[in-house]
Amino acid sequence: MEPIYIFTEDERRALCGLVEAIPENPYTDYPGFQTSIARLADSQAYPRSLIDACARIRSERASGMIRTHVLRNCPVDRDLPALSPDNPLSEKHALKKTYVSEAFVALVAQLSGNPLMAYSATNEGRFFDDVIAVNRYSGTQSAMSDRDLVFHNDRSAHWARPDIVALLALRSPDEEVTYTVYIDGAELLRQLTPEYEEILRQPNFITNFNKSDLAYEATAHPILVGRSIRYVDAITNVLPAAPVAARDALIAFKSALTLGEKQRHRLLTGDLLLIENQEGLHCREKMEVRRHDRTRTRWLQKTYLFRDKRTADAYADKWHGGVPGLIAE
Ligand SMILES: [Fe+2]
Repeated sequence: MEPIYIFTEDERRALCGLVEAIPENPYTDYPGFQTSIARLADSQAYPRSLIDACARIRSERASGMIRTHVLRNCPVDRDLPALSPDNPLSEKHALKKTYVSEAFVALVAQLSGNPLMAYSATNEGRFFDDVIAVNRYSGTQSAMSDRDLVFHNDRSAHWARPDIVALLALRSPDEEVTYTVYIDGAELLRQLTPEYEEILRQPNFITNFNKSDLAYEATAHPILVGRSIRYVDAITNVLPAAPVAARDALIAFKSALTLGEKQRHRLLTGDLLLIENQEGLHCREKMEVRRHDRTRTRWLQKTYLFRDKRTADAYADKWHGGVPGLIAE
Protein backbone atom coordinates (compact mmCIF):
# COMPACT_ATOMS: atom_id res chain seq x y z
CA MET A 1 0.00 0.00 0.00
CA GLU A 2 1.07 3.57 -0.67
CA PRO A 3 1.47 5.64 2.50
CA ILE A 4 -0.91 8.61 2.64
CA TYR A 5 1.97 10.61 4.06
CA ILE A 6 5.71 10.19 4.60
CA PHE A 7 7.06 12.40 7.36
CA THR A 8 10.23 14.23 6.42
CA GLU A 9 13.27 13.72 8.63
CA ASP A 10 12.75 17.19 10.11
CA GLU A 11 9.11 16.40 10.89
CA ARG A 12 10.00 13.05 12.40
CA ARG A 13 12.63 14.64 14.62
CA ALA A 14 10.24 17.42 15.67
CA LEU A 15 7.51 14.90 16.53
CA CYS A 16 10.03 12.76 18.38
CA GLY A 17 11.06 15.74 20.52
CA LEU A 18 7.45 16.61 21.35
CA VAL A 19 6.36 13.15 22.42
CA GLU A 20 9.63 12.47 24.23
CA ALA A 21 8.86 15.45 26.47
CA ILE A 22 5.75 13.72 27.85
CA PRO A 23 6.81 12.71 31.36
CA GLU A 24 4.24 10.05 32.20
CA ASN A 25 4.73 6.32 31.72
CA PRO A 26 1.68 5.02 29.81
CA TYR A 27 1.95 1.65 31.57
CA THR A 28 1.97 2.99 35.14
CA ASP A 29 0.14 6.33 34.80
CA TYR A 30 -2.17 6.03 31.82
CA PRO A 31 -4.58 8.81 32.91
CA GLY A 32 -1.68 11.24 33.37
CA PHE A 33 -0.20 10.15 30.03
CA GLN A 34 -3.52 10.79 28.26
CA THR A 35 -3.85 14.22 29.89
CA SER A 36 -0.44 15.12 28.45
CA ILE A 37 -1.44 13.75 25.02
CA ALA A 38 -4.63 15.85 25.04
CA ARG A 39 -2.58 18.91 26.02
CA LEU A 40 -0.11 18.26 23.20
CA ALA A 41 -2.95 17.78 20.70
CA ASP A 42 -4.46 21.13 21.79
CA SER A 43 -1.11 22.92 21.61
CA GLN A 44 -0.81 22.46 17.84
CA ALA A 45 2.94 22.49 18.34
CA TYR A 46 3.31 19.51 16.02
CA PRO A 47 3.93 19.74 12.25
CA ARG A 48 0.94 20.79 10.18
CA SER A 49 1.35 17.65 8.06
CA LEU A 50 0.28 15.51 11.04
CA ILE A 51 -3.06 17.28 11.49
CA ASP A 52 -3.62 17.14 7.71
CA ALA A 53 -2.92 13.40 7.62
CA CYS A 54 -5.21 12.76 10.60
CA ALA A 55 -7.99 14.86 9.03
CA ARG A 56 -7.66 12.82 5.86
CA ILE A 57 -7.82 9.54 7.79
CA ARG A 58 -10.94 10.76 9.59
CA SER A 59 -12.77 11.90 6.47
CA GLU A 60 -11.86 8.86 4.35
CA ARG A 61 -12.98 6.50 7.09
CA ALA A 62 -16.22 8.46 7.54
CA SER A 63 -16.95 8.17 3.83
CA GLY A 64 -16.46 4.41 4.10
CA MET A 65 -14.45 4.44 0.87
CA ILE A 66 -10.98 3.94 2.33
CA ARG A 67 -10.53 2.10 5.61
CA THR A 68 -6.83 1.32 5.65
CA HIS A 69 -4.16 3.97 6.02
CA VAL A 70 -0.39 4.05 6.27
CA LEU A 71 1.82 6.81 7.67
CA ARG A 72 5.54 6.35 7.01
CA ASN A 73 8.69 7.47 8.81
CA CYS A 74 6.81 7.92 12.08
CA PRO A 75 8.74 8.55 15.29
CA VAL A 76 9.95 5.42 17.05
CA ASP A 77 12.12 5.20 20.18
CA ARG A 78 15.80 5.70 19.43
CA ASP A 79 17.13 3.01 21.75
CA LEU A 80 15.00 -0.06 21.41
CA PRO A 81 16.28 -3.03 23.37
CA ALA A 82 17.04 -6.34 21.70
CA LEU A 83 14.47 -8.82 22.98
CA SER A 84 14.91 -12.55 23.40
CA PRO A 85 12.16 -14.78 22.00
CA ASP A 86 11.83 -16.54 25.36
CA ASN A 87 10.32 -13.63 27.22
CA PRO A 88 10.27 -10.49 25.07
CA LEU A 89 7.43 -8.77 26.87
CA SER A 90 8.88 -8.76 30.36
CA GLU A 91 12.22 -7.73 28.83
CA LYS A 92 10.49 -4.89 27.00
CA HIS A 93 8.91 -3.58 30.18
CA ALA A 94 12.19 -3.86 32.04
CA LEU A 95 14.32 -2.25 29.31
CA LYS A 96 12.20 0.16 27.22
CA LYS A 97 12.26 3.34 29.26
CA THR A 98 11.07 5.82 26.64
CA TYR A 99 7.55 5.95 25.25
CA VAL A 100 7.88 7.66 21.90
CA SER A 101 5.96 5.02 19.94
CA GLU A 102 3.15 4.87 22.50
CA ALA A 103 2.80 8.66 22.64
CA PHE A 104 2.86 9.02 18.87
CA VAL A 105 0.04 6.51 18.34
CA ALA A 106 -1.96 8.11 21.17
CA LEU A 107 -1.47 11.53 19.52
CA VAL A 108 -2.58 10.24 16.10
CA ALA A 109 -5.61 8.62 17.75
CA GLN A 110 -6.46 11.85 19.53
CA LEU A 111 -6.16 13.93 16.35
CA SER A 112 -8.11 11.39 14.28
CA GLY A 113 -10.94 11.22 16.83
CA ASN A 114 -10.39 7.53 17.66
CA PRO A 115 -10.24 6.92 21.43
CA LEU A 116 -7.91 4.15 22.60
CA MET A 117 -9.35 0.86 23.84
CA ALA A 118 -8.02 -1.92 26.07
CA TYR A 119 -9.31 -4.80 28.18
CA SER A 120 -8.88 -4.99 31.95
CA ALA A 121 -8.07 -8.71 32.00
CA THR A 122 -6.04 -8.90 28.80
CA ASN A 123 -2.43 -7.83 28.43
CA GLU A 124 -2.64 -6.66 32.07
CA GLY A 125 -4.96 -3.86 31.02
CA ARG A 126 -2.31 -2.14 28.92
CA PHE A 127 -3.37 0.07 26.03
CA PHE A 128 -0.23 -0.78 24.06
CA ASP A 129 0.39 -4.39 23.16
CA ASP A 130 3.26 -5.99 21.26
CA VAL A 131 3.30 -8.36 18.33
CA ILE A 132 6.60 -10.21 18.41
CA ALA A 133 7.55 -13.87 18.17
CA VAL A 134 7.51 -15.67 21.51
CA ASN A 135 8.91 -19.18 21.69
CA ARG A 136 6.04 -20.68 23.61
CA TYR A 137 3.58 -19.62 20.86
CA SER A 138 5.72 -21.00 18.05
CA GLY A 139 3.62 -22.74 15.42
CA THR A 140 0.28 -21.56 16.85
CA GLN A 141 -2.27 -19.11 15.45
CA SER A 142 -1.44 -16.54 18.12
CA ALA A 143 -0.26 -13.11 16.93
CA MET A 144 2.85 -13.90 19.01
CA SER A 145 3.68 -16.90 16.87
CA ASP A 146 6.43 -17.00 14.27
CA ARG A 147 4.31 -18.04 11.31
CA ASP A 148 1.55 -16.91 8.97
CA LEU A 149 -1.73 -15.92 10.53
CA VAL A 150 -4.99 -16.90 8.82
CA PHE A 151 -7.65 -14.30 7.97
CA HIS A 152 -9.38 -13.17 11.16
CA ASN A 153 -10.41 -10.10 13.05
CA ASP A 154 -9.33 -9.29 16.58
CA ARG A 155 -11.53 -10.03 19.60
CA SER A 156 -14.47 -10.79 17.32
CA ALA A 157 -16.23 -12.94 19.92
CA HIS A 158 -16.04 -10.27 22.61
CA TRP A 159 -19.06 -8.13 23.52
CA ALA A 160 -16.84 -5.08 23.15
CA ARG A 161 -14.92 -5.19 19.91
CA PRO A 162 -12.17 -2.89 18.68
CA ASP A 163 -13.14 -0.95 15.56
CA ILE A 164 -9.63 -0.23 14.35
CA VAL A 165 -6.27 -1.93 14.82
CA ALA A 166 -3.22 0.34 14.78
CA LEU A 167 0.11 -1.38 14.07
CA LEU A 168 3.32 0.63 14.39
CA ALA A 169 6.45 -1.19 13.24
CA LEU A 170 9.14 -0.66 15.86
CA ARG A 171 11.51 -3.12 14.23
CA SER A 172 11.10 -4.66 10.81
CA PRO A 173 14.17 -6.36 9.36
CA ASP A 174 14.88 -5.01 5.85
CA GLU A 175 16.00 -8.40 4.55
CA GLU A 176 12.82 -10.26 5.51
CA VAL A 177 9.45 -9.82 3.83
CA THR A 178 6.24 -10.11 5.83
CA TYR A 179 2.95 -8.69 4.63
CA THR A 180 -0.18 -7.67 6.49
CA VAL A 181 -3.15 -8.36 4.21
CA TYR A 182 -6.60 -6.78 4.53
CA ILE A 183 -9.90 -7.59 2.82
CA ASP A 184 -12.89 -5.36 3.34
CA GLY A 185 -16.30 -6.76 4.25
CA ALA A 186 -17.92 -4.87 1.36
CA GLU A 187 -15.62 -6.72 -1.04
CA LEU A 188 -16.59 -10.06 0.52
CA LEU A 189 -20.29 -9.21 0.15
CA ARG A 190 -19.75 -8.32 -3.51
CA GLN A 191 -18.59 -11.89 -4.05
CA LEU A 192 -21.60 -13.51 -2.33
CA THR A 193 -25.12 -14.16 -3.57
CA PRO A 194 -27.98 -12.73 -1.43
CA GLU A 195 -29.00 -16.32 -0.61
CA TYR A 196 -25.60 -17.23 0.83
CA GLU A 197 -25.37 -13.88 2.60
CA GLU A 198 -28.68 -14.59 4.33
CA ILE A 199 -27.47 -18.00 5.54
CA LEU A 200 -24.24 -16.43 6.79
CA ARG A 201 -26.39 -14.08 8.88
CA GLN A 202 -27.91 -17.02 10.81
CA PRO A 203 -26.23 -18.69 13.85
CA ASN A 204 -25.11 -21.70 11.83
CA PHE A 205 -21.42 -21.48 12.71
CA ILE A 206 -18.97 -22.16 15.48
CA THR A 207 -15.46 -20.85 16.17
CA ASN A 208 -13.78 -23.17 18.58
CA PHE A 209 -10.36 -22.11 19.75
CA ASN A 210 -9.11 -25.03 21.72
CA LYS A 211 -6.32 -23.01 23.26
CA SER A 212 -6.23 -21.37 26.64
CA ASP A 213 -4.64 -18.18 25.25
CA LEU A 214 -7.51 -17.73 22.81
CA ALA A 215 -10.33 -18.99 24.97
CA TYR A 216 -13.26 -17.78 22.91
CA GLU A 217 -16.61 -19.27 23.76
CA ALA A 218 -17.51 -22.01 21.35
CA THR A 219 -21.13 -20.95 20.91
CA ALA A 220 -23.19 -20.88 17.74
CA HIS A 221 -22.89 -17.57 15.94
CA PRO A 222 -23.53 -15.94 12.57
CA ILE A 223 -20.55 -14.97 10.41
CA LEU A 224 -22.17 -11.70 9.35
CA VAL A 225 -23.95 -9.31 11.72
CA GLY A 226 -24.85 -6.01 10.11
CA ARG A 227 -21.55 -4.96 8.55
CA SER A 228 -19.49 -6.81 11.16
CA ILE A 229 -17.77 -10.11 10.53
CA ARG A 230 -16.96 -12.88 12.98
CA TYR A 231 -14.71 -15.38 11.30
CA VAL A 232 -11.36 -17.09 11.70
CA ASP A 233 -10.25 -18.95 8.61
CA ALA A 234 -9.74 -22.70 9.09
CA ILE A 235 -11.24 -22.48 12.59
CA THR A 236 -14.77 -21.13 12.03
CA ASN A 237 -16.85 -24.08 10.91
CA VAL A 238 -20.44 -25.18 10.38
CA LEU A 239 -22.41 -26.33 13.41
CA PRO A 240 -23.02 -30.08 13.16
CA ALA A 241 -26.78 -29.45 13.39
CA ALA A 242 -26.82 -26.69 10.76
CA PRO A 243 -28.60 -27.21 7.41
CA VAL A 244 -26.54 -28.39 4.44
CA ALA A 245 -26.97 -24.97 2.85
CA ALA A 246 -24.84 -23.52 5.68
CA ARG A 247 -21.92 -25.65 4.48
CA ASP A 248 -22.40 -24.34 0.94
CA ALA A 249 -22.54 -20.79 2.29
CA LEU A 250 -19.30 -21.29 4.22
CA ILE A 251 -17.60 -22.61 1.06
CA ALA A 252 -18.90 -19.56 -0.82
CA PHE A 253 -17.49 -17.30 1.92
CA LYS A 254 -14.10 -19.01 1.69
CA SER A 255 -14.17 -18.58 -2.10
CA ALA A 256 -14.99 -14.89 -1.62
CA LEU A 257 -11.99 -14.64 0.67
CA THR A 258 -9.78 -16.22 -1.99
CA LEU A 259 -11.14 -14.27 -4.95
CA GLY A 260 -11.82 -10.89 -3.37
CA GLU A 261 -9.54 -7.92 -3.90
CA LYS A 262 -7.11 -7.38 -1.05
CA GLN A 263 -4.73 -4.74 0.14
CA ARG A 264 -1.25 -5.84 1.10
CA HIS A 265 1.21 -3.87 3.12
CA ARG A 266 4.76 -4.60 4.17
CA LEU A 267 5.28 -2.68 7.40
CA LEU A 268 8.70 -1.03 7.33
CA THR A 269 10.26 0.26 10.53
CA GLY A 270 8.41 3.48 11.37
CA ASP A 271 5.26 2.60 9.41
CA LEU A 272 1.92 3.06 11.15
CA LEU A 273 -0.85 0.94 9.60
CA LEU A 274 -4.47 1.56 10.59
CA ILE A 275 -6.95 -1.10 9.52
CA GLU A 276 -10.66 -1.62 10.01
CA ASN A 277 -11.18 -4.53 12.40
CA GLN A 278 -14.87 -5.37 12.68
CA GLU A 279 -15.92 -4.83 9.08
CA GLY A 280 -12.98 -6.53 7.43
CA LEU A 281 -10.53 -9.38 7.94
CA HIS A 282 -6.75 -9.34 8.06
CA CYS A 283 -3.97 -11.88 8.02
CA ARG A 284 -0.17 -12.12 8.14
CA GLU A 285 1.81 -13.64 5.31
CA LYS A 286 5.52 -14.35 5.57
CA MET A 287 6.41 -13.89 1.93
CA GLU A 288 10.15 -14.37 2.06
CA VAL A 289 11.97 -15.83 5.00
CA ARG A 290 15.71 -15.72 4.47
CA ARG A 291 16.72 -16.19 8.05
CA HIS A 292 14.10 -17.49 10.44
CA ASP A 293 15.83 -16.05 13.51
CA ARG A 294 15.91 -12.59 11.92
CA THR A 295 12.26 -12.73 10.85
CA ARG A 296 11.41 -13.43 14.46
CA THR A 297 12.81 -10.05 15.54
CA ARG A 298 9.93 -8.21 13.78
CA TRP A 299 8.28 -6.13 16.47
CA LEU A 300 5.00 -4.29 16.09
CA GLN A 301 3.22 -2.17 18.65
CA LYS A 302 -0.51 -2.93 18.53
CA THR A 303 -3.21 -0.55 19.76
CA TYR A 304 -6.98 -0.88 19.59
CA LEU A 305 -9.11 2.13 18.74
CA PHE A 306 -12.80 3.00 18.83
CA ARG A 307 -14.43 4.30 15.67
CA ASP A 308 -15.24 7.61 17.33
CA LYS A 309 -15.97 9.16 20.71
CA ARG A 310 -19.68 8.37 20.48
CA THR A 311 -18.93 4.64 20.07
CA ALA A 312 -16.55 4.74 23.03
CA ASP A 313 -19.07 6.64 25.16
CA ALA A 314 -21.59 3.83 24.67
CA TYR A 315 -19.34 1.74 26.96
CA ALA A 316 -18.99 4.45 29.59
CA ASP A 317 -20.62 2.28 32.27
CA LYS A 318 -18.08 -0.50 31.53
CA TRP A 319 -14.86 1.38 32.22
CA HIS A 320 -12.62 -0.54 34.59
CA GLY A 321 -11.59 1.68 37.49
CA GLY A 322 -13.20 4.65 35.72
CA VAL A 323 -10.42 4.71 33.09
CA PRO A 324 -11.99 5.74 29.76
CA GLY A 325 -11.38 3.09 27.11
CA LEU A 326 -10.49 0.31 29.54
CA ILE A 327 -13.22 -2.32 29.17
CA ALA A 328 -14.01 -4.14 32.44
CA GLU A 329 -13.92 -7.88 31.77
FE1 LIG B 1 -5.08 -9.62 14.17
